[in-house]
Amino acid sequence: YGDASQKVDYVFKVVLIGDSAVGKSQILSRFARNEFSLDSKSTIGVEFQTRTLVIQHKSVKAQIWDTAGQERYRAVTSAYYRGAVGAMLVYDITKRQTFDHIPRWLEELRAHADKNIVIILIGNKSDLEDQRSVPTEDAKEFAQTEELFFLETSALEATNVENAFLTVLTEIF
Ligand code: GTP
Ligand code: MG
Repeated sequence: YGDASQKVDYVFKVVLIGDSAVGKSQILSRFARNEFSLDSKSTIGVEFQTRTLVIQHKSVKAQIWDTAGQERYRAVTSAYYRGAVGAMLVYDITKRQTFDHIPRWLEELRAHADKNIVIILIGNKSDLEDQRSVPTEDAKEFAQTEELFFLETSALEATNVENAFLTVLTEIF
């Protein structure tokens, strides 16, 4: 976890997007502070957290932005995407609707973000396998078509969260 005293070679802004309650804030909390909460409140406006890590011998400060999935609480769209070099497009593997909305999020992302932005599709809550409603194959296929990276994560169990961020940050690099 971050050592504030180290010098920073790069600052990378990464944005989290996706429907409300898919687990964006908990993915961020797991990555930035190694914490998780089951009674997480809906995000209002925009929040961000940072973590500095070493990638290929360089110190990289990841500045991760998180906004509300709910339209009425969302940050100003253009400001949110400005300067972002990575994006994490999150759905909940137990809620089909959150996956069906991914094309809309992708459309917004492509309309507002830099065209070279690195995007990863994330199916969160992989710990709830018995409630799964989105087959891994469906998501994998969609990701391939749209040329996105793809991983299933669990913020609760800390599965693949680190991996997801590293995939994006390494690719930006
Ligand atoms: P908005 O801020 O409204 O857009 O929602 P969000 O996407 O930030 O969701 P949030 O992180 O607040 O999580 C919503 C709920 O899902 C909370 O009750 C979390 O504890 C729960 N949750 C998040 N990640 C996981 C996970 O990996 N597994 C399980 N079982 N629950 C999770
Ligand atoms: Mg949130």
